[in-house]
Amino acid sequence: MTRVLIADPLGADGIALMQHRLAVTVAGENDVASLLPGSEALIVRSRTRVTDDLLARGDDLRLVARAGIGVDNIDVDAATRRGILVVNAPYASVRSAAEHTLALMLAAARRLPAADAGVRSGAWRTGYSGTQLAGKTLGVIGAGKIGRQVALLGAAIGMDVMAHDPYLPPAAWNDLGLTSRPLDDLLAVSDVVTLHIPLLPETRHLLDETRLARMKSGAILVNCARGGLVDEAAVAVCLADGHLSAAAFDVFEDEPPAGSPLLTAPNVVLTPHVAASTREAQAHVSVEIAHQVLDYFAGRPVAHAINPSVLGVS
Ligand code: MLT
Repeated sequence: MTRVLIADPLGADGIALMQHRLAVTVAGENDVASLLPGSEALIVRSRTRVTDDLLARGDDLRLVARAGIGVDNIDVDAATRRGILVVNAPYASVRSAAEHTLALMLAAARRLPAADAGVRSGAWRTGYSGTQLAGKTLGVIGAGKIGRQVALLGAAIGMDVMAHDPYLPPAAWNDLGLTSRPLDDLLAVSDVVTLHIPLLPETRHLLDETRLARMKSGAILVNCARGGLVDEAAVAVCLADGHLSAAAFDVFEDEPPAGSPLLTAPNVVLTPHVAASTREAQAHVSVEIAHQVLDYFAGRPVAHAINPSVLGVS
């Protein structure tokens, strides 16, 4: 029977689906590298780093399945060189990720952590003043699946939404009903800027000191996409000097973000990379990835190949 190793916590629904046809091992707290020999598929979330060294331990490995969207924890080039297919689950957690983005936008605008701390310390309504989001401009960087959902949610609470996405063909903007703006224009006019792009060499520190300086004074910055897209030290300076009125981060350059300047910055809401951590998203992600693992070993086409060249498809 084909052996599948699950390295990171995965929803029970997906595991049950695979167990009908495949020999599934859940690594739990055990060492993934030592369990890998003999497995033909490895399933990970974002915790396990799938390096070339780890892939080298998988002498029978044919498939790496990412139960989630981002594949920045997987050395896809190394997998491709070794003839190992990489697949992900790009749809199942989209709504939860978008809802978390909205939650962080609102939490930052209404300063919920400070309000909560105030109640606990007896400082009843002292120095509290939030910002209403209706009527404000929301700038969405990245009009992919999550960015589009965030745009919808922003519009639903009365925000004027614009987006920047250099990869979207001009005709697609009309279909989406979204206004396209060059990045610097979007930064200059948005009251809230939210990122929904992958971390790639060309997007690392997309929002650096120079671009942050181009943001509207008093704006709010939200990052639920990937740590590394913004320069955390530069954001902390902008929060301290008031150029940004607030920020909210679910993702960090290093996770956990020990030593990040964001930890001590004022007016910042921080959550531990949990945008996709809802019961619904994790159940759906596990099923979305399980179907692909089953399809692959049954010789059927897989829905979301990251490196289809391995299959001889471009
Ligand atoms: C994703 O890429 O799917 C999310 O960031 C959640 C996760 O890392 O599991």
